Amino acid sequence: MIPGESKLERFFARYEFSVRHILGASDVDGYPLGELLALADDDAARRWHDLTLGYTETTGHPALRAAIADRYDKVSPDEVVVCGGGAVEALFLLVHALIEQHSHLVVVWPAFESLHRVAQAAGAAVTLVPLRAHDGWELDLDAVRAALRPDTGAIVVNYPHNPTGALPAPARFQELLDLARERGIRVVSDEVYRGTEFDPATRLPAAADVDASFVSLGVMSKAYGLAGLRIGWLACRDRALLARVTAMKDFTSVCASAPAEILALIALRAHDQVTGRCMDIVRGNLAHVDAFFARHADLFEWIPPRAGTVAFPLLRAPVPIDEFVHELIEQEGVMLLPASVFDHTENRFRIGLGRSDLPAALARLESYLSRRWRSRA
Ligand SMILES: Cc1ncc(COP(=O)(O)O)c(C=O)c1O
Repeated sequence: MIPGESKLERFFARYEFSVRHILGASDVDGYPLGELLALADDDAARRWHDLTLGYTETTGHPALRAAIADRYDKVSPDEVVVCGGGAVEALFLLVHALIEQHSHLVVVWPAFESLHRVAQAAGAAVTLVPLRAHDGWELDLDAVRAALRPDTGAIVVNYPHNPTGALPAPARFQELLDLARERGIRVVSDEVYRGTEFDPATRLPAAADVDASFVSLGVMSKAYGLAGLRIGWLACRDRALLARVTAMKDFTSVCASAPAEILALIALRAHDQVTGRCMDIVRGNLAHVDAFFARHADLFEWIPPRAGTVAFPLLRAPVPIDEFVHELIEQEGVMLLPASVFDHTENRFRIGLGRSDLPAALARLESYLSRRWRSRA
């Protein structure tokens, strides 16, 4: 079963291509095609030039799977399945494969909708374990432990975290992995923002490297700025699980787009340049956003992200967040993402750090604030 509709995607669909500035997105400005092609090594340039536009291998182009496997310590190319419908497709298939075996998942929340809603729609039981602002969005291991049941098939986490920008200390994350291992429960680790840590020393291990049953989810959309390729993947050393996912894929995309696979290959081989360009944008924007929230500390609670491309501030003013967000769109053409799309009831919004027009968007937000709260802003 497919969930009724995605609140987040419907919100984007309504505004994404009509507003002036997207200030709530989680992706990074798309990489220009010409610049990406200029990074191709000889082998990849030849593959691009000679490419034929037929079907591709269901599990993904072997060279692409090899380049993805290179991002891990213990994963081999045969332990990767590429999905041409992004991380969304990978999650959809993975969740269905998991709940064939187990009827319950534990999901750290708030979360990107697919992480819990796909399982719920398919009839699985899902226990959401909340992260809370008052303890800095810290991972609550006691709550995870309390949520486990005999039929729990996986603990689903997403670090760096969307929408809060949270990242647990490596020791805390290790405790979670140890807990899962002790109980014989899989960890599904959505690592689509891995590589965007502001301090690289805080990068967490990839779950697929830690235990053969754990699954790492990756995508080209965030740290690489290549959302338009729609290339996502699952990495896992449990080949039986990947075989089941691959079989299901025959009923979704069958295979990824041939050009997208080669472009992803080029980007992965030029990893440092491609992700470096994204992190330059994100770091520059974080400085602007930090300064903005320091200027408006009376109106907003600001917990700076430790990693990733988003954060989840609180509007302290007594105005419902949906009203605030819609007024800002109407008056200034600036789109933030209200917490309601995550079914989160606090007066929060998601702000994104990946778009180069962020300073202009903040200037418009500031003029809106000064009109609405002239005496305070
Ligand atoms: C945590 C998380 N997982 C998965 C995805 C899906 O990525 P894509 O839309 O590129 O498939 C997103 C996108 O926002 C995300 O934030």
